[in-house]
Amino acid sequence: MKILIDKIAHNHSATVDELEQILSDSECDEYLFSIADQVRHDSVGDAIHIRGLIEFSNYCKNNCCYCGIRKGNGNLPRYHLSVDEIIALAEKAKNYGYQTVVLQSGEDLSFDMNKMEKIIKGIKALDLALTLSIGEKTFEEYKAYFDFGADRYLIRIETTDKDLYHELDPGMSWENRHRCLCDLKKIGYETGSGCMVGLPKQTLRSIANDILYFKSLPVDMCGIGPFIPHPDTPLKDAKGKEFILSLKTMALTRLLLPKINIPATTAMETLYENGRVKALQSGANVVMLNVSDSDDRQLYNLYPNKAGSTGNTITLKNDFLEKVRQIGRTISTTKGSARDN
Ligand code: 5AD
Repeated sequence: MKILIDKIAHNHSATVDELEQILSDSECDEYLFSIADQVRHDSVGDAIHIRGLIEFSNYCKNNCCYCGIRKGNGNLPRYHLSVDEIIALAEKAKNYGYQTVVLQSGEDLSFDMNKMEKIIKGIKALDLALTLSIGEKTFEEYKAYFDFGADRYLIRIETTDKDLYHELDPGMSWENRHRCLCDLKKIGYETGSGCMVGLPKQTLRSIANDILYFKSLPVDMCGIGPFIPHPDTPLKDAKGKEFILSLKTMALTRLLLPKINIPATTAMETLYENGRVKALQSGANVVMLNVSDSDDRQLYNLYPNKAGSTGNTITLKNDFLEKVRQIGRTISTTKGSARDN
């Protein structure tokens, strides 16, 4: 197994059988993590990029069975921020020294083109890199956001198992989600995708295919996290919580795509104390730290006990900086584009 891991790390390529084999064997997990850490060091260096995360709306028109902000969740109070509030949070991120902000929301139709133009131009005027993570749009909409100045876009494919996708995301189509990723790349965004690990009925082979999908696009950024069941969703009784398997999926993604940006995801930190640090030592080089106010953070409730949803944003930042210091890594002083890697 170690020889196979070395080969994949050297060639940055693997077959679906090889990936499945590594995912199914627990003997060499720590070895895989250490090799992914080495590849990360050699390919993107030791600096960690901090992104300021602004979760600006928990309204969503979709009904994804795993997600706590699904339209059908009547137990969740809904909020959305105003244009000025969003720009003020971007300013706060800038004052913290963050050089990228990530705007994330449910698919909230009230953010029309006019509002998006004000938000994007307002944030770009602060000389920040801007990542959008606001769901499925048309080519024309993506192009307009790009022309307003957005630099990057995140949209997870969630799973490459199309039947599973259609079961878990009623009313949506896998082909359309894939179309979104192709459009974003065509337009020129730094494009990010990713998946959840540990979904019900998801097989190791399908996770292996997810990794190959990221390689085939290829993505510039890739967020991988464990599925965590939410009590107010149809998947409340599902098992999920596959921390190690998520970490292995992330580490293998690093071996195949050495130069991309990979976040240590919040879902990893939620499942395991210091999960984010473990991820940063297993291939990840990015973290997203919330800059929203605590009340809103608690309502952006994708899954229960989401790490970083309480406490003040300066404390979150300082606690994280201390952890970075303890593991001997540095904080990036650049905007952290994957294209510069
Ligand atoms: N557990 C883990 N991740 C989730 N997401 C949504 N719901 C959950 C959950 N219950 C992830 C999806 C989505 C991202 C914003 O959050 O992958 O793309």
